[in-house]
Amino acid sequence: MNQTKSERVVVMTGVTAGLGAHALQDIASHPNTRVIIGARGSGRTVPPRVEVIPLDLASLASVRQFAETVTWRLAGTPIDILVLNAGMQTSTNKGRSVDGYELTFAVNHLAHYLLARLLLPSLAEHGRIVITTSETHDPAVTPIAPKTLEPHWLAYPDKSGIGSGIRAYAASKLCNLLTAQSFAALDEVKARQITVIAFSPGLTGGTSLGRDSPRLMRAFVMLLMHTVFRVVGFFRPEYVIGTPERSGEALAEVSLGEVTPPRGRIYVSLVKGELTFPTPSELAQSRDAQIRLWRESATMVGLDDRAS
Ligand SMILES: NC(=O)c1ccc[n+]([C@@H]2O[C@H](COP(=O)([O-])OP(=O)(O)OC[C@H]3O[C@@H](n4cnc5c(N)ncnc54)[C@H](OP(=O)(O)O)[C@@H]3O)[C@@H](O)[C@H]2O)c1
Repeated sequence: MNQTKSERVVVMTGVTAGLGAHALQDIASHPNTRVIIGARGSGRTVPPRVEVIPLDLASLASVRQFAETVTWRLAGTPIDILVLNAGMQTSTNKGRSVDGYELTFAVNHLAHYLLARLLLPSLAEHGRIVITTSETHDPAVTPIAPKTLEPHWLAYPDKSGIGSGIRAYAASKLCNLLTAQSFAALDEVKARQITVIAFSPGLTGGTSLGRDSPRLMRAFVMLLMHTVFRVVGFFRPEYVIGTPERSGEALAEVSLGEVTPPRGRIYVSLVKGELTFPTPSELAQSRDAQIRLWRESATMVGLDDRAS
């Protein structure tokens, strides 16, 4: 594809379904915007002119291949916006990635950590990295949120059982938020004035998240969303269920720089359709947790563990 100098380059994951598909529609409809996406070939359609490169986040080799192909295709043209939105959730923590790590941790966190590190040198000055996290990271919002961080046990859980899948999911979303803050703290990122944002779309109905869970579990979650969450939503706005259209639009707004958090903040959370800038959980703000996750993730993906 011909590249003109005024073209904005956007690289995205997790935009073949759910809220990401709406963000993709929005971003791809902007003029002078070249969009490259990573997709695992589930056969979903994407808007015309969007370039699709194979990517299975359950395999670190696939992540490396994707990063290589993107870099080769761009031939030195910098990436303006990197959106890491893909995510999965299942009923247990028994699944394993190609590399042997717990699947939710591997797909939602490790793969994106590796991808962001591999593509960071290709990011433009004043570029932007957006990582999709969730309010499930925060014990003040939900009891399933992690209260401690042990990367090793997230990668190799020794206990399974009821609730292990949703807890693995919440922990992976904490990892997304910790990772975003680690990237924001890098000298290289500060020097090149790259903006890093951790975006929480809020509870969003009508996506395919959790589609791999057993049918009974999915029915139970639907029931919860349409009964208990509706009532709780009167008191706790975080429990009001949004639409994939609005969540996708918000992801596009944040990615395109139409919304930027106040100075010093990187967490943007969509609550009742409005973008807010809350304080992340105490654990998510812990510099010690950020550094430990960065270092242990580096070892797991085979990169140097230079501190963030
Ligand atoms: N829905 C919510 O209530 C909610 C709340 C907070 C945060 N989030 C976050 O928002 C993001 C999008 O979620 P969603 O609800 O829109 O879910 P979704 O409809 O299931 O979409 C998930 C996206 O991730 C991709 N993906 C999953 N596993 C992948 C893999 N191994 N390799 C490559 N791509 C993979 C899917 O690709 P395929 O098309 O191949 O399946 C799809 O494009 C996730 O990060 C999720 O954690 C969602």
